Amino acid sequence: MKLTRNCIQPWAFFQVHAGGMVQCCAVANDTDMGDFIIDHCQKTARGEPSDILDSPGLVRLREGLLSGNLRPMCRRCFFRPEELITTAELERRVRRHLGKRLPAGTGVDSLDLARSHAYSEMCISFTNRCNSRCVYCVQSVLADVNPYFKMDFPEEYAESTLEFFAAQGIDQIRSCVEGEPTVYRRWCEVTSAFKDRHPHIELYMTTNLSRRYSEKEIELLARYKVLDISCDTLDPDLYARMRPGSNLSLVLDNLQRVKAKKADMGIRGTRISLHSVVSDATWRTLDSLADYAFANGFVPLLGYYEERPNSRAYREGLCRPLTAMPEAEQAEARKSILRIREELLRRGYDLGEFIQGGLLCSLERNLDRRYNRFEPYDDNPLHRAFHRQCPSGSPDAHLDIVYDHDNIAYNGVLFARPGVSLRLEGFSAGHAVVREVSLYKKGCHSTKYDQAVLPGYRKTVAVSGGAFAYAPQFAEGVEKILLEVSEWW
Ligand SMILES: C[S@@+](CC[C@H](N)C(=O)[O-])C[C@H]1O[C@@H](n2cnc3c(N)ncnc32)[C@H](O)[C@@H]1O
Ligand code: SF4
Ligand code: SF4
Repeated sequence: MKLTRNCIQPWAFFQVHAGGMVQCCAVANDTDMGDFIIDHCQKTARGEPSDILDSPGLVRLREGLLSGNLRPMCRRCFFRPEELITTAELERRVRRHLGKRLPAGTGVDSLDLARSHAYSEMCISFTNRCNSRCVYCVQSVLADVNPYFKMDFPEEYAESTLEFFAAQGIDQIRSCVEGEPTVYRRWCEVTSAFKDRHPHIELYMTTNLSRRYSEKEIELLARYKVLDISCDTLDPDLYARMRPGSNLSLVLDNLQRVKAKKADMGIRGTRISLHSVVSDATWRTLDSLADYAFANGFVPLLGYYEERPNSRAYREGLCRPLTAMPEAEQAEARKSILRIREELLRRGYDLGEFIQGGLLCSLERNLDRRYNRFEPYDDNPLHRAFHRQCPSGSPDAHLDIVYDHDNIAYNGVLFARPGVSLRLEGFSAGHAVVREVSLYKKGCHSTKYDQAVLPGYRKTVAVSGGAFAYAPQFAEGVEKILLEVSEWW
C-alpha cells in the first residue's frame, strides 16, 4: 500500500479544449489523454468506435492514482488538497462513486478501475479566445502570438458533442476551460437550446462576465445553476492591474442584472461565486470581496495561484504565491482566509469547493513548520519510530516521498543534506533491509522531470540494542537521500 492524492477526477470529470485536447482537471496535462476532435468526432463520423472516455492516457493517469505511483501532474497538483490518502482508501472512494452511478447490477467490486468511469460532469470550451489579458493567465503572453489562442471548437460538432455528453448520464455541464466562454459567437444559442432539451442537466460556467450582454444573454446567465465570476478583487486599481481588458464596473452591473433576472424568473437554488486567484497581490482585499459577496447573496471563492512561466505575472514578477511572502504576512493572510472559512462554514458551504486545494494547507505547513510530508499510514516501523521521535520532522530530516523516472514512488526518511544522521530507539528486530534512493542535483543526469531519482541496491543493516542508526554517504552529485526500509528480522 502507498500514499496517493485524494482525487477521483479521472473517473468523474471530463473536459475538452476548443482545439480538441482532453483533460480530467484544470491541472496542465503531462499525459496525452486524447484529442476529442480526431479520436472521437472524426472517428464517429466515419462510423468507427471511439474509446475517448477511457483513452490510454486516462487509463495511465488512473493507474498512477490507484497505485500511488503518481504521474508528475498529480504530484504537483494545486487543485486537490495536499493531504494524501492510502491507495486502499482511494480505491474505496472510486468504487463508491462508480457504484452510485453505474446501472444497478454492475459488479463494481470486480471492475477494472483503470478502465471504468462514471462521469457526473463534463465540460467543453467552445472557444479559447478571450477579451481579457489577466496577468497571471497564459493569455497575457500567448493570446496575441500563439494562433492556438484564436481557436473555436469546430461548429459542425458543437451540438453532437453536447448530446454525447448528455448521453453519459451527467448531472452538470460546464462551459469553460481556458478562454472566455461568453465570447463564443454561438454560446447563447447553443447553450439555451441544450438547456431546453435537457432541463435536468445543470449549467456551470466560470466567466469574467465582462461583456455587454443582451437581454437574452442575461436570461441564459440567470438559468445557470453555478456562475463562477473571476474578479480577483473589488479594488478598482488592483482589478485593472490584474485583469487588463476587463471592466470592473461592467462586471458589477452585469451581476446585478443577473440577480434581478433570477428574481423576475423566480429562479432559486442557484449560486454565484466571486472567484479570487489568491496571491501576494490580492490577499489584502479578500475581506472586502467576501463582505460584498455575502451582503449580495453571492459566495467568495478563493482559488490557489499557480505560477505559470507563460504569463506576465511570472515573467515580470507581478505576483507570487502566498508561501513566497515574508512569514508575518503569511500569518496575516492565513488569518484573513480563516475568517472567510469561518463565515463559509457558518453558512453551511462545502469548504472544499470554496477554498481550493493547497491554499490553506501550504500556508499551514509553512507557518507550523510541518516538514513531514505524511504521517505513518501502515505498520512500517521506520515511519512510526521517526514520527514518534520527530512528529513534525525538520528541514534536514523528514518523512517524504520521491518519484523516479518511471513514476515509481519511494517513501521513507529524507536526508536533505550531507552530514545528517539518524538514531531511532525501541526496535525489537535485529536487522533491517534498507535502500537509499539518491536525488541528484539538477543537471547532473538528463531527465525530463525536475530531478534524477535513482534507487540503489538493498542492503542489510544491524540494529543494535534496540537502536537503528544510519548515516548516509552522499556520492558525487547527490543532493538528497531518501532512506527506505523494506524488512525487519
Ligand atoms: C482560465 S479561466 C477561464 C474562464 C474565464 N475566462 C474566466 O476568467 O473566468 C478559469 C479560471 O482560472 C483562473 N486562472 C487563470 N490563470 C490562473 C493561474 N495562473 N493560477 C490560478 N488560477 C488561474 C482564472 O482566474 C479563472 O478563474
Ligand atoms: S492533477 Fe490533481 S486533480 Fe488532476 S487528476 Fe491528478 S490529482 Fe486529480
Ligand atoms: S478572463 Fe479568463 S481566460 Fe481570459 S485572460 Fe483572464 S483568466 Fe485568462
